[in-house]
Parts: sequence; C-alpha cells; structure tokens
Amino acid sequence: MSLCDWPGIRRVATGPRGFAAAGGREETGGAVEQKPGCGTAANGVSVRSRETSVSNFYATPIPLPSEVRGTEELASPALIVFADRLERNLRQMAAIAGEVQRLRPHCKTHKTAEIIRMLERMGVRRHKAATVAEAEMVATAGGRDVLLAYNPVGPNIPRVVAFRRRFPEVRLAVTADHQQPLRELAEAAQRARVEVDVMLDVDTGQHRTGIAVGEDAARLYRRIAELPGVRPAGLHVYDGHNHQPERSDRDEAVSAIWRQVSSFRDALVAAGLPVPEIVCGGTPTFPCYAGIRDAAITLSPGTCVYHDANYGRHFRDLPFEPAAVLLTRVISRPTDRRVTFDLGYKAVASDPPAGRRVFFPAIPDAREVLHNEEHLVIETEAAERFSPGDALFAIPTHVCPTSALHRHVYVARDGAIAEQWPVVARDRKLTV
Ligand SMILES: Cc1ncc(COP(=O)(O)O)c(C=O)c1O
Repeated sequence: MSLCDWPGIRRVATGPRGFAAAGGREETGGAVEQKPGCGTAANGVSVRSRETSVSNFYATPIPLPSEVRGTEELASPALIVFADRLERNLRQMAAIAGEVQRLRPHCKTHKTAEIIRMLERMGVRRHKAATVAEAEMVATAGGRDVLLAYNPVGPNIPRVVAFRRRFPEVRLAVTADHQQPLRELAEAAQRARVEVDVMLDVDTGQHRTGIAVGEDAARLYRRIAELPGVRPAGLHVYDGHNHQPERSDRDEAVSAIWRQVSSFRDALVAAGLPVPEIVCGGTPTFPCYAGIRDAAITLSPGTCVYHDANYGRHFRDLPFEPAAVLLTRVISRPTDRRVTFDLGYKAVASDPPAGRRVFFPAIPDAREVLHNEEHLVIETEAAERFSPGDALFAIPTHVCPTSALHRHVYVARDGAIAEQWPVVARDRKLTV
C-alpha cells in the first residue's frame, strides 16, 4: 500500500516522495459540525452566541520537509514554526476574543520575544507569564503589562521586587493564594519602595493552586487591599481541568464557574474592594468566557498560538492549526516494521506518557513503541518506505514543554526557512 492510499494523505506537491500529509482523519479538509455558541449563563449574565469556525487542525496539509527549502541544511531535531499558520492562529484568537483588548495571552507556549512583538502589533497590551524570566522577556520585547500567574514564594519574591525596580514602566501583577508569601511580598515591596499588583488566585476546581471563592478568599482579598506595598488587581480564574471535548459541556462548566466568580466579585465590590480584572481560561475555555459580556473579563489562552496534536485531536470546535512542528530524521530501520527517529525526549516533551508524544502526519498508523533520550522508535506498516536520513515533520502532542527544549525555533515563510527566533525564556533566569 502506498502512503497516498491512506485516508487523510493527499498528494499535493512533487517533493521526492510526491505526497503530503493532511492528518489521517477521514474528514480532513471537510467540515466538522459546528457547535453552538456559549449559551446562556443561568445567573442572568448576558452570554453571546458566537460563530466559531470549525477545527482547522487537519485542514491544511503539513508539507514535507523536502517542500520547505532550507530544511535539508538544518540539523535535526529542530522546531519549525510556520509563520502563516502562526499568524492565522493569532488572528483567530483575536477574532474569538472579539476585542483584542480582552486578550491576555500566556507566553509560556512560545517563550519568544518575536511573538510578543507580533501580539503588540495586533494591539494586544496585556500578557501572562509563568516565570519571572518570561515576564522579563515580555518587558524587554515591549510589553507594558504582564501578569506573573505563578504565586511567588522564596527567592522569587525579591525577584518580583527587583523586576519592578528594573522595569518601572511595566505594570507587573502577580497571583497569591496564601497570607504568608503575600505578607513577605508586601514587606519586600515596601522596603524597596515599590508597589506590586496582586490578583487573588481562585481555585475553580482544578485543585492545583488557588483558593475557592468564599469567606477565606474574601479575607485574603481584603488583606491585599490593606497591606502597604501590594494592591488588589482582580481575580485569576484558570480552569485547566475543563477539557471536555464537547463545546457545550465546556460552556456549561464555564457558566457554573462564572456564576460563582461573578457573585464573589459583586460581593467584594459591594464591600468597597476594587476588582478591575478577572483573568479567565486557557485555549479550551477562552471562547466560552469570551461569550460572557463583562468588562472585567480578560482571556488567557496559551497553547492555541502554536496549537498541538493533543488539543487538535480533542477540541474539534477550535479553529486553530498546528503551527510548530518538529523536524526529525530516520536514523535506523532496526526491524522490518520499525523506524527509529532522532526525536528523543530531549527534543519532544515527555508529556503525555510514552506512546503518545507526537503525531506524524505522514505516518498515520505510527505506534510509538520506545522513547529514550535521543531515540523515538515507531512501528508502522509502511516502514519499508523509510531509509536512514529521510526527514519528516512530527506534530508534538504537548507543544509548550516541547518549545522549552529548543534554544531556537526556525521560522518557515513562503516555503523556505527564513529566520530563527531565540526561545529566550526557556532559561529560568534572564537578568532579574
Ligand atoms: C495559569 C494558566 N493560564 C493559562 C494557561 C493557558 O492554557 P492553554 O495552554 O490551555 O492555552 C495555562 C496553561 O497551562 C495556565 O497554567
């Protein structure tokens, strides 16, 4: 059987193998039924019904490396970003948000200054980061408002204060869910004569960090308002557990969260505490929050900038494309069913568990059978088609930790490798 006979493989160009892959799904390029918009929140909040386009994940074929000039000279493994796909993803993100000012995208996915600058050129003025280094990257790339959504403790407290002194023109907010580091931060800020904005980290059910809405949460928020050195900046409402494949199920979950969060906010405001911003969601749920009309809401997707095989597979309502792929080469054909690639877990994240770490558009039946530091071994019916030295693209299952494994990404534009961008914030410390 030729690879072109497999479902989802389309012959689109005349590279050495004469085919390109569109993803191994029968509905490739066709329509996936559109889910309705966000529905109506039960607490009377006006929720817009939003037109979202169908999943583009497999809609545009990933070319073969032989169709991208310059890849033949690139040592593999390497991370390649397709500029056109990235730009379309950014536009889709803005379209879903409705107004670009509502976006506070998370930079942990790409960690590159170039994408921060692209976002700023689109009018995005707020950013989210998980490390002090990411926040610094945002600041040096021209961002003037960054939320460090990772509760600072220990040495990260003086680093936050040092950041405020080093970048006085940048508004830095951090999250908090506990009295003690909050007090330490307030004292350190006071000593340095700076003020740090603090958002209350709300636990919406993921139970990773945060504090559930209620009396303790209200007490902590009041504390933020009372302590000199810190200022209340709103609520951080991340819901990484809301990964329901059906959009209507996510809408329902978000409506339930929003009922609680909005009445908590109303109580804080009634008590005289300002709640200027409520930062909501990641890629799967920001379209749901985007449908809620509330001036305080900002939206913090991260992954959709590059998107990845996991989200592409799971969330068929999302209109994003895989923009970052791994260039890998066959290094061995150890058996007649096996192909070994130079794609160990030093090049692609070991998340999720072994067996599901990449998707090869050109080998839809690939089964990952062994993953070591520098080797990925797959089994496929088509093994005999591959020889050592053959180059392929693979879509990472989880792109965010994958990009952190690469010093640079190579940018493909108009069918050729055009430039490389440093993945600046893969380092945990820049200067601060
Ligand atoms: C706190 C926080 N906000 C936003 C995001 C972005 O979510 P996603 O990667 O689903 O876009 C993440 C992802 O891990 C996160 O941890």
